[in-house]
Amino acid sequence: MLDFTAIPERERIIVALDCSGEEALAIARSLQGRAAWLKVGMTLYYQEGPQIIAKLKDMGFNVFVDLKFHDIPYQVYGAATSVARAGADMFTLHTIGGLEMMRSAVDGLIEAGRPDVITLGITVLTSMSEEDLELTGVTRSLPDQVRTLAQQAQTAGLTGVVASPQEAAMLRKELGREAYIVTPGVRPVGASLDDQSRVATPRQAFDNGASHLVIGRPITAAADPAEAFESIVKGL
Ligand code: C5P
Repeated sequence: MLDFTAIPERERIIVALDCSGEEALAIARSLQGRAAWLKVGMTLYYQEGPQIIAKLKDMGFNVFVDLKFHDIPYQVYGAATSVARAGADMFTLHTIGGLEMMRSAVDGLIEAGRPDVITLGITVLTSMSEEDLELTGVTRSLPDQVRTLAQQAQTAGLTGVVASPQEAAMLRKELGREAYIVTPGVRPVGASLDDQSRVATPRQAFDNGASHLVIGRPITAAADPAEAFESIVKGL
């Protein structure tokens, strides 16, 4: 049985590299032997392509590819196959794309010979308010919509979800002990909030039930990213 508490918290912090390829590789070098996971999002992937995944893998990291797939099932099957073949260990897709689309992603991993890849469903983007959601035609409350979509992710066979630290506790109850619950919006005490609004400290996010935390700018924009990472680990 998967027990996240058996994995050191240091190895459950994912550093988001939302920067140029050159900067990403420099930060990755400074985090070698310290961090276990790096996240490649749209900014970096669309500049560097799938080679960046291979480069970070060669440096010994697990790579989370955060491209939030949302398309017809045939395309998402292809996208899942492609990123799995490129070396991704974890990737995201929008649950709003429906059960068949999510199942296609899981099928794509089998086709690629990588059924072990972690699949995370995006429910409601944390940048969206209840009013924004209503404008899209959703009449459920925001927490209800998050819960409903997370249940669908599980039904489709995804490994987990991305969630705000505020939603993590409810989702942990809903999805059970073994679900991956990956939370961005994490800020160490005293750090700049940047454009995040509903934030939690690393300790709070883990205590709320997150299996993994995504932390970007508090580490990548620091004068010394390795030191910033170590200070976060020390503060846990
Ligand atoms: O720099 P910061 O710590 O705010 O980075 C958070 C990372 O998590 C970014 O890469 C962002 O794309 C991602 N993310 C987020 N909120 C979500 C989903 C992903 O901030 N709901």
